[in-house]
Amino acid sequence: MLANRHRFSYRLILISLLTFETSRRLASGDSNDEACLTNLHQTLEDPSNNLHNWTKPFFSNPCPGFESNLHGVTCNNGRVYKLTLTNLSLRGTISPFISNCTNLQSLDLSSNAVSGEIPPQIQSLSNLAVLNLSSNRLSGEISPNLARCSFLNVIDLHRNGLSGSIPQQLGTLARLSAFDVSDNKLSGQIPGNLAMRNGNSPRFNASSFEGNKKLYGYPLEEMKSKGLSVMAIVGIGLGSGVASLVISFTGVCVWLKVTEKKMEEEEGKISHSMPDY
Ligand SMILES: *[C@@H]1O[C@H](CO)[C@@H](O)[C@H](O)[C@H]1NC(C)=O
Ligand SMILES: *[C@@H]1O[C@H](CO)[C@@H](O)[C@H](O)[C@H]1NC(C)=O
Ligand SMILES: *[C@@H]1O[C@H](CO)[C@@H](O)[C@H](O)[C@H]1NC(C)=O
Ligand SMILES: *[C@@H]1O[C@H](CO)[C@@H](O)[C@H](O)[C@H]1NC(C)=O
Ligand SMILES: *[C@@H]1O[C@H](CO)[C@@H](O)[C@H](O)[C@H]1NC(C)=O
Repeated sequence: MLANRHRFSYRLILISLLTFETSRRLASGDSNDEACLTNLHQTLEDPSNNLHNWTKPFFSNPCPGFESNLHGVTCNNGRVYKLTLTNLSLRGTISPFISNCTNLQSLDLSSNAVSGEIPPQIQSLSNLAVLNLSSNRLSGEISPNLARCSFLNVIDLHRNGLSGSIPQQLGTLARLSAFDVSDNKLSGQIPGNLAMRNGNSPRFNASSFEGNKKLYGYPLEEMKSKGLSVMAIVGIGLGSGVASLVISFTGVCVWLKVTEKKMEEEEGKISHSMPDY
């Protein structure tokens, strides 16, 4: 009797333990999303405390339902699929762990003061369709491997401090419908496959590229005229150098002549003032 009762309570304990474990699993989020958000929160600085509810308990379960408790996080099927943190005075850098948000479709950190490089790990976000990092302080180059995110629709990197050339691989992104790298420090020739489509009709016009002093080629000004102006500047420089050399040489000659003449005159004076014996 006593033994039976014991067996029964053991079973009860076991069953409740199992139930607890299952519900705990259901209630807890994805460890990849947790790593992504935890690390992003660490590298971003939030001086205005706009991310006040980005706290540890929420990281472990960012998507309890359709809605996330975390400001700027949108969920789909229990996973983070949109991160929209625009105009929140954020600083700091983008964590390389951003790639642990493996279901991310949209990353929008526009209009902040985020600095550092665009982490190369972004290339492994294979579902990424929207990348909007415009109006920040990002530096470094745009990796050609960004083209591995083959679903990219939107690449908006305008108004940053990005340098280097525009990788021509980006022109192979078949779904790209918005591309803006204006107002950066990019250089080199604009890849033809970004500027053109089907021969002559423009894919992205000048407004996508302007505001980069050293960027050239269609749809911006061609290098030729810029090349000429560079040659002209070099020419003017060389010319004025030679001219100033000639002028100073002439000056020295004239000065020498004058002093010679003066000396002769002095000598003459001296010889004149010398009494003749
Ligand atoms: C984050 O991603 C890296 C590389 O993709 C992986 O090795 C690591 O296990 C992930 N971290 C977590 C906590 O899931
Ligand atoms: C988190 O913060 C945002 C912005 O301040 C707010 O809209 C949202 O309701 C907050 N969510 C929770 C669960 O506190
Ligand atoms: C950005 O935020 C500031 C203050 O928080 C606000 O005044 C401004 O209108 C916002 N800008 C945009 C474009 O939403
Ligand atoms: C990127 O974000 C900025 C500011 O939030 C917005 O004005 C712009 O339209 C966005 N870019 C695209 C291509 O949607
Ligand atoms: C350039 O293209 C954008 C859309 O991609 C359009 O809004 C804009 O008017 C175009 N500018 C010119 C000068 O054609």
